[in-house]
Amino acid sequence: MKIGIIGAGNIGGNLTRRLTALGHDVSVANSRGPHSLKELADETGATPVRAEEAARGAEIAVVTVPLKAVPDLPSGLFDEAADGLVVIDTGNYYPRQRDGRIAGIEDEGLTESRWTERQIGHPVVKAFNGTYAQDLLDRHRPAGDPERMALPVAGDDEAAKRKVRDLIEELGFDTVDAGGIDDSWRQQPGTPVYGLRGSVDAVTRALAEAPPERPEEFRG
Ligand SMILES: NC(=O)c1ccc[n+]([C@@H]2O[C@H](COP(=O)([O-])OP(=O)(O)OC[C@H]3O[C@@H](n4cnc5c(N)ncnc54)[C@H](OP(=O)(O)O)[C@@H]3O)[C@@H](O)[C@H]2O)c1
Repeated sequence: MKIGIIGAGNIGGNLTRRLTALGHDVSVANSRGPHSLKELADETGATPVRAEEAARGAEIAVVTVPLKAVPDLPSGLFDEAADGLVVIDTGNYYPRQRDGRIAGIEDEGLTESRWTERQIGHPVVKAFNGTYAQDLLDRHRPAGDPERMALPVAGDDEAAKRKVRDLIEELGFDTVDAGGIDDSWRQQPGTPVYGLRGSVDAVTRALAEAPPERPEEFRG
């Protein structure tokens, strides 16, 4: 499958590694330009591109940049994407350590992914946001393995969500349907499922136990 990855840091880099290993045709971009991605490209066989080219012809794009950088992404990022492009958002809001205060999230009460959708002008499926980047490399397991972890996946479009769940299952993780984007506060930073290494049952339980208030340490 043709997959475009925007952001080549902890998560984008490791998704590039695993998705190329599975035989996918991956284009990857960062803020500094393709020349700065030579090492990752040589290692993985991914194609380094500019951010505006990453989703060109792709079936799935992944936006995996710090939340504060989302408004700086080029406009029309997905204009040349294939029909039915599915965009995965891995983002988290860290107002105190990294992102600064974002009014849409704090004052309007938007979920982090709903805010991101509005910035990029495209619906998203929220996935990987609570997964340690290193676990993508170290903790994938075949289906049925008792140690296989489950990841929550939220999105409003059922077909898009199914496509993302299939990809994650191919990457070596089970998935749990975490509802729509308005429900995705249940998997944001500080919730019981955030960073949880657990089974389908454990993830399902943690999503159900999430309190609706934004934790104090994740307020700007
Ligand atoms: N680290 C984790 O384990 C983890 C786990 C789950 C979710 N997340 C979330 O996923 C997101 C990414 O995290 P990360 O740890 O992978 O970040 P990171 O290591 O800091 O990497 C960020 C990447 O985004 C790129 N970038 C920044 N601004 C950009 C722009 N305007 N256009 C194109 N690319 C841009 C950076 O490129 P340059 O280097 O060229 O600036 C870099 O490749 C965050 O919201 C984070 O909270 C992280």
